[in-house]
Amino acid sequence: MRTYDEYRSLVEAKLTSFLPQVAEEAATVYDAMKYSLTAGGKRLRPVLLLAACDFAGGDINEALPYACALEFIHTYSLIHDDLPAMDDDDLRRGKPTNHVVFGEAMAVLAGDGLLNSACEVITQTYAKCFDDPERLVRHIRAGNAIILAAGVNGMIAGQVADIENEAPEEGTDIAQMVDFIEANKTGALLMAPFTAGLHIAGAPDDMIRTFEFYARCIGKGFQIADDILDFTSTPEELGKSIGKDKEQGKCNYVMVYGMDRARQELSALTQQALDAMAPYGDSAAFFIDIARRLETRKA
Ligand code: IPE
Ligand code: IPE
Ligand code: MG
Ligand code: MG
Ligand code: MG
Repeated sequence: MRTYDEYRSLVEAKLTSFLPQVAEEAATVYDAMKYSLTAGGKRLRPVLLLAACDFAGGDINEALPYACALEFIHTYSLIHDDLPAMDDDDLRRGKPTNHVVFGEAMAVLAGDGLLNSACEVITQTYAKCFDDPERLVRHIRAGNAIILAAGVNGMIAGQVADIENEAPEEGTDIAQMVDFIEANKTGALLMAPFTAGLHIAGAPDDMIRTFEFYARCIGKGFQIADDILDFTSTPEELGKSIGKDKEQGKCNYVMVYGMDRARQELSALTQQALDAMAPYGDSAAFFIDIARRLETRKA
């Protein structure tokens, strides 16, 4: 296994090379896509995908296109999340948001462009496996995991519920709703790296199930930490605006349960994630470190 920074460097080195060539007439959308992609970001999802593949003995070069495709999708989700029609944010990854720089129409198109480019990267990678059916099956499983996680039964579903519950209707089961929102808008794209990375490595089902449980814990914890930081951080440290969840009445963990309970839940989820890795002993040190770092993250 390599370190977080080593996996991240592999992603950084190749990320924009997976973008398609664009005609001069459409150059603005390419600039807008590249702007958000290269604005920074932790690269958590692609790093986890490479690490999961590596852990199971796979070839991380085989996983790299999927890691980059996933970061394209995550970046698209942020561009659209920041639009005036959604969270209306003007700061992301320490820079003005995509629509502030390129205008709303181009930001919509840049998000669409990143999503489609991700699909292009994935299907082009399948096309390189046609002479090896066993490898093709592993790749299709990986691609499926990513596309499904981004879809209307994954990230988009969570975003729908997030937007519709800024003022929940009377009778809404708030506890169930918070769970649904956080598991989908954030949890789905944090589960995909494990499912996809492990499928590329041809990992056994029980390992995939164990990592999916771990992913559910850190995914929910990740969004609770995001909700906490929206209250406690600064725009300088976080690279995005703060205080918006309260202002917009978001149905999130801190808003519903309060700060103390949010911190307790984050700590309990971290412990569950650590426990899930126990059977793997020292070989899971990377994932133990990730769970701990995500609990105390400041950005
Ligand atoms: C932000 O994700 C959106 C959420 C799901 C909370 P990250 O915190 O991973 O954002 P970047 O990629 O580092 O900018
Ligand atoms: C967004 O959740 C998750 C997605 C972009 C899918 P948030 O709206 O809480 O993310 P931030 O706080 O703007 O990064
Ligand atoms: Mg949002
Ligand atoms: Mg937002
Ligand atoms: Mg947030």
